Amino acid sequence: MDFRDRYSEFFEQLDDKFFDEERFVPAEGTLEAEYMLVGEAPGANEVKEKEPFVGRAGEKMNDILEEIGVEREELYITNLVKVRPPDNRDPRKNEIEAWRPLLDKEILDIDPEVILTMGNFASRQLLDTKKGITQIHGRLFTRNGRKIMPVYHPAATLYDNSKTPVFKEDLKKAFGKADTGQKTFKDSF
Ligand code: URA
Repeated sequence: MDFRDRYSEFFEQLDDKFFDEERFVPAEGTLEAEYMLVGEAPGANEVKEKEPFVGRAGEKMNDILEEIGVEREELYITNLVKVRPPDNRDPRKNEIEAWRPLLDKEILDIDPEVILTMGNFASRQLLDTKKGITQIHGRLFTRNGRKIMPVYHPAATLYDNSKTPVFKEDLKKAFGKADTGQKTFKDSF
């Protein structure tokens, strides 16, 4: 079923000022996913393709996932805010609040084993913390019975390549691909 149809109740009650057909990008992925990835908001390339994480940051993420042996098709990939903010600005508090009920519904529906929050916005929102991603990345938290692991936003690794190995190690840990002998990360907690 189409994303908008699946969540028609949400879209019917969403205030028009938070929606823009041209800038809207739905979530992507399987409803059976064990891992849910939550970004911040779509960028220009995502709007063009109507798919999350397909621009430069997305490519970087996809390359690393492939390198560590994770198929994008196994995942559910979504954003905190599903409409691209104008002028590439950060999503605002009222926009995040307006879109939050949809993210909560997606989490209930997917019922993932682990949620990976990418970057400060998604991490602070879902962990209900003011701490920055540098402090909390790669650690497993539990909120309302959900396992949540914050990781750097892949865009951050484009600005600062020294974050790339850290991002990769965190993803390896999250997906149970780290060389610790542990089969899967989610089973070890
Ligand atoms: N950055 C995000 O946070 N989400 C996307 O979908 C693309 C880039």
